[in-house]
Amino acid sequence: MTSPGADASRFPSLGHDLGRYQYSVHLAPNLVEAYQQLVVATELPLGAEVLMRHFDAKSGDSGPLYVMRKEARGWSYAILSNTGDVLPADTRACAQCHAAAPTDHLFGLPRDTKR
Ligand code: HEC
Repeated sequence: MTSPGADASRFPSLGHDLGRYQYSVHLAPNLVEAYQQLVVATELPLGAEVLMRHFDAKSGDSGPLYVMRKEARGWSYAILSNTGDVLPADTRACAQCHAAAPTDHLFGLPRDTKR
């Protein structure tokens, strides 16, 4: 896994508990460019996984890991703890909000980080 943000940059999360977290995004190396250049026609392939790490905005401590995985029936959503346990999550809310994302249920990085 590698991060599309330069040197695993962290950004303030606007979508998940506003103000609480900084985040970084991680994808397989062959998907990084598509994610960085996300445009309306972008479609990530089946099996693509997008991992979003969260860090407490004040302390910097590692928070939960949000995972999206593209399956035949669409994206699946999950939250994992730091130790890899699946945490209870309202995955319908994930899907609902991400359905409003600009492309392929993905929001992408903040605009000024795109090349
Ligand atoms: C209220 C809207 C909302 C909900 C609910 C939501 N997200 Fe997000 N998500 C966002 C936004 C906005 C971003 C872009 C980064 C940011 O500012 O947080 C994002 C980014 C992501 C990313 C990085 C990929 C991308 O879209 O660019 C993943 C992975 C992710 N969310 C997973 C989840 C999971 C798993 C859940 C449910 C547990 C969830 N999200 C619930 C709004 C939401």
